[in-house]
Amino acid sequence: MPIVQLAGIRPFQNKSSKDKYFVNITRTDRIRSFVLRAGRTTGGQQRAIDELGPQFLIPFQESALDLQQVFGGSSHPKILEIGFGMGETTAKIAALRSDDDFLAIEVHPPGVGALLKLIGENHLTNLRLIRHDAVEVLEKMLTPNSLDGIHIYFADPWHKKRHHKRRLIQAEFVKLLVSRLKPEAYLHLATDWQNYAEQMLLVLNAESDLENTSTEKMSIETFSAADVASDLELAKESFKEFKPTLEQLDAKHPGYLERPAYRPTTKFENRGIKLGHGVWDLVYKKK
Ligand SMILES: C[S@@+](CC[C@H](N)C(=O)[O-])C[C@H]1O[C@@H](n2cnc3c(N)ncnc32)[C@H](O)[C@@H]1O
Repeated sequence: MPIVQLAGIRPFQNKSSKDKYFVNITRTDRIRSFVLRAGRTTGGQQRAIDELGPQFLIPFQESALDLQQVFGGSSHPKILEIGFGMGETTAKIAALRSDDDFLAIEVHPPGVGALLKLIGENHLTNLRLIRHDAVEVLEKMLTPNSLDGIHIYFADPWHKKRHHKRRLIQAEFVKLLVSRLKPEAYLHLATDWQNYAEQMLLVLNAESDLENTSTEKMSIETFSAADVASDLELAKESFKEFKPTLEQLDAKHPGYLERPAYRPTTKFENRGIKLGHGVWDLVYKKK
């Protein structure tokens, strides 16, 4: 399979860091949950990549990662974060939970630079970053039963219906996540888009190896009978996109939790809350 550089991504500008960390992304038929935006890496972010990259940025590799070794031999619990954006939440959680180690993944280079900068400013030692597609990192670098927790906060919701197949939280991806969790380990998601929150609930509640930790019972509000998959769609082997069943639309479901205290609110979230928008936290435990 040819290795290609995707259009729209700007590699790290410094040659030494580019050579080491700018790993080309393999083109596959899989629909991706992200779009590589051509954001500019600032001077400060680039300096952080050059100075702190060698210590905190792990290059993508096709083989399994020794998690204990990348955290300097630490046997602390290992938490994975997918899609950390500019890393403000990640840095705050790592500072608060200094007895846990955090492996954080993002594809967007300025975000990687921004989080490395926060690592330096806050003297954090329990964070390691990978700039790559999280799906491939999970498949290739992380071994079954190796993680104590997974955080996915405000993953791109893909609002338009025709883009729903790009949403990260679909049954097949959830199976991959669950396989990497240890028994009793947790999966924590948050979103500010109710329709995506309901998709998450239905997909995760249907995964037999997960238990929803919420005791709330709620009905589905944002999907209707028009969203149910047709027999024709279900018959197609290639049909992977989430669509609810009529039974799911009629039933009550284990629901959401109050935001756990370790997850700080972001400025976007605070702005939304002031405008009366909701935020939904979902926490599951692997059986
Ligand atoms: C809306 S942002 C949220 C960022 C951050 N979690 C927050 O709460 O502010 C979602 C991020 O997830 C990243 N992302 C989406 N799919 C990803 C994937 N498969 N692998 C790595 N990063 C991904 C995107 O690049 C984007 O920066």
